[in-house]
Amino acid sequence: MGGAEEAYVREAFASNWLSTVGPNIDAFEKEFEELTGRPAVAVSSGTAAIQLGLRLLGVGPGDEVICPTLTFVASVNPVVYQGARPVFIDSERQSWNLDPGILEDVLGKKAARGSLPRAVIVVHLFGQCADMDPILEVCGRYGVPVLEDAAEALGSDYKGRPAGSLASVGAFSFNGNKIITTTGGGMLVAQDPEMVKRARFWSTQARDAGLAYHHSEFGYNYRMSNVLAGIGRGQLRVLTERVRLRRKNAFRYRDAFSDLRGIALMPQAAYGLHTNWLSCFLVDEDGFGCSRDELIARLDAAGVESRPVWKPMHLQPIYKDAEAFGGAVAEDLFGRGICLPSSSNLSCEEQDCVIECVRAASGQPSARAANFLPLGNVSDVEGVYPRLGAR
Ligand SMILES: Cc1ncc(COP(=O)(O)O)c(C=O)c1O
Repeated sequence: MGGAEEAYVREAFASNWLSTVGPNIDAFEKEFEELTGRPAVAVSSGTAAIQLGLRLLGVGPGDEVICPTLTFVASVNPVVYQGARPVFIDSERQSWNLDPGILEDVLGKKAARGSLPRAVIVVHLFGQCADMDPILEVCGRYGVPVLEDAAEALGSDYKGRPAGSLASVGAFSFNGNKIITTTGGGMLVAQDPEMVKRARFWSTQARDAGLAYHHSEFGYNYRMSNVLAGIGRGQLRVLTERVRLRRKNAFRYRDAFSDLRGIALMPQAAYGLHTNWLSCFLVDEDGFGCSRDELIARLDAAGVESRPVWKPMHLQPIYKDAEAFGGAVAEDLFGRGICLPSSSNLSCEEQDCVIECVRAASGQPSARAANFLPLGNVSDVEGVYPRLGAR
């Protein structure tokens, strides 16, 4: 927590606004709109935001929705909640996100058969935007709407525009592990304010106007509570600082491994600001000295938790029968990618311990003294960063 959250939560208790209505919700949505430039509705999770977004785009039973295969399962499950089928597309290497070239091929083939997908979900993985211009161009050409899953990318941008504000609909998560959190929660933003109104209506059981409990549409209990929105208001105040800290973590690791062979920071695409929500590295067993899995085991033995990058959806038992185009890049990233400890409150001492453990696991002779670690390339952190502050 940043410090201001408790005051907003206390206000909710003092004023007895302890439901899914209240001033914190209104203010949180307004402040989020100022950040992203899009009207917003606060909901109970990022998953709920994605499902509402798909429904807004008209996704329903029997439809196809294109999704990247390399993502967390919550990007895709809402497609199934809507009765639709996911179709998976591989990643490209410059950002690890949806490959625009494969998307163009697939849309071309499906258009020729007269069976275009109802929507495309683009995910901005680990804090970095997908290459949105070619994706939006080809989707626009075929008239297929795009939903941005920006759950992992709040605070990042694409060519100066905030993640989640580039397509028709965007979804964000405030789950406990995200760059800012409401302990659990999400936000849906849309270009069209009418869409946001509809999503707000559906998120509160779709109760029609009037006194009677009259329902002409199905809804959900997906609204965020006024208490949690208070946490969100406090968290928004520290977003800028959190982005700086996440970037510092990543660049400090990168600098500390710069003399090692076979370990490289996830690419930082030139078109945008990568928050490095998670510090992800690719391990090349031959150069590095051990495999990614051995590295995870070595870190674990030292009491350091690390994780592989997401397991591609086309490899998941629940999606084994789904149509998939490519997948070799996502499989390679899954096989070699590691997420190192990345918390905003990771201390230099803790990070030094992780770094030493990685260096020891590599078995490569250390050309540096034990206390070699620089404070990270601060110019890299600050150089690009003021764009967010200027917003
Ligand atoms: C890419 C992605 N999409 C969607 C979600 C779902 O968000 P939530 O946990 O708030 O439902 C998450 C994180 O949990 C995520 O990482």
